Amino acid sequence: MVTLHNERFEPYIGPAELDAAIDKVAARVAAQYGELMPLFLGVLNGSYFFAAELMKRLAFPCEISFVKVASYHGTRSSGSVKQLIGLQESIAGRHVVVLEDIVDTGNTVMHVVEALREKRPASIAIASLLLKPDVYKKDLPIDFVAMEVPNFFVVGSGLDHDGLGRNLPGIYRIVNS
Ligand code: IMP
Repeated sequence: MVTLHNERFEPYIGPAELDAAIDKVAARVAAQYGELMPLFLGVLNGSYFFAAELMKRLAFPCEISFVKVASYHGTRSSGSVKQLIGLQESIAGRHVVVLEDIVDTGNTVMHVVEALREKRPASIAIASLLLKPDVYKKDLPIDFVAMEVPNFFVVGSGLDHDGLGRNLPGIYRIVNS
């Protein structure tokens, strides 16, 4: 059990189980992208762990880079405006695989994909360490998922609770007392 900002978290997915799930998803990525020289685009900060774990399992020529999604809270009630920052590469004609830590509502990944589409890549796919299928209801397919989790808050392996917990091995879930 660990406490982060006064919330308690308990181990949920062990590091070995997570490793095995990443092995499987990496094999699927390799089978589909081995000849395509893809560009992997990790969405910071949460994707750093999955990006490293996935990349070390891929032996074919590929590139990796990272982007960030910045949220600006406007004055309108429509909420925050999101902007994709940090993309240095030209992605026109490239096969792009977006790497996420978790897809929850999918708002973040949807925004990333829409911003990338404007730059005319040959294809865009999404790979995520975790997916919450009970929450995610968008039409956009999440092509590669290492593990699905129920709708509770999780940390570890890149995922944080207000900045803390990214370093925890495996996945921990919140304990609602
Ligand atoms: P979405 O836009 O609702 O899909 O959420 C995307 C982002 O919210 C993720 O990239 C995470 O940074 C964060 N997030 C969503 N669910 C969790 C969770 O259970 N633990 C930690 N972060 C989460």
